[in-house]
Amino acid sequence: MRKQVIAGNWKMNKTHREAEDFIQTTKNEVPSSDKVESVVCAPFPFLQKLVEETEGTSLKIGAQNMHFEESGAFTGEVSPVMLKELGVTYVVLGHSERREVFKETDEDINKKVHAAFKHGLTPIICVGETLDQREADQTMNHVEAQVKKALEGLTNEQCADVIIAYEPIWAIGTGRTATAEQANEVCAHIRETVSNYVNADAADAVRIQYGGSVKPANVDEMLSQSDIDGALVGGASLEADSFLKLVEAGK
Ligand code: G3H
Repeated sequence: MRKQVIAGNWKMNKTHREAEDFIQTTKNEVPSSDKVESVVCAPFPFLQKLVEETEGTSLKIGAQNMHFEESGAFTGEVSPVMLKELGVTYVVLGHSERREVFKETDEDINKKVHAAFKHGLTPIICVGETLDQREADQTMNHVEAQVKKALEGLTNEQCADVIIAYEPIWAIGTGRTATAEQANEVCAHIRETVSNYVNADAADAVRIQYGGSVKPANVDEMLSQSDIDGALVGGASLEADSFLKLVEAGK
């Protein structure tokens, strides 16, 4: 039985004060981590404080990106060593906004996944198609290629431990959610890809989230699907009440 992972991705939102208020309100209200993994992926400047404030609770803190190198002349970047030192446990990698706006490639993302494992961080690897790709019937091929490249060179055990977030780009921040059936169809294909590319055990263990306009009103239906093991949530994770409803649904 795979444990659901509900992760909020705050993107570039909130002041320090707002971030702290959110954490104070939610940290003791999330369900036990035995039942569901509750994660907040916050902007870099807030991470240290949020990790300290959530210590000993079931609420875990993640980053939204990192560089694959441990140190060096990479102005403006943050390394996996730095994140690990802060006590961060998860890192979102290859979000479509990173791929589109910051031109991250599948190869960069594969290097970042390796770096995450080297430093004991759990990667949340984002994949998903554009509207044009969906309309051209390329969704499955595109997502499959992204998954294979992200997992290239990992051990079978590492492949079982990644979290993959399927986020159709046309459903992100648009209010236009994929239907539960559409989402599950792609998540099932991702699981089959892991089965063929790695093995059946890894496919059975890997957690696959859906992301794209998830909110309290549609989360139950998404999470009830056979191959959806959680959600990666942007907008609806910004308010404490809404976030608590989402993690409650993951129990
Ligand atoms: O990482 C989260 C996704 O980009 C989804 O964002 O829930 O605001 O559509 P959204």
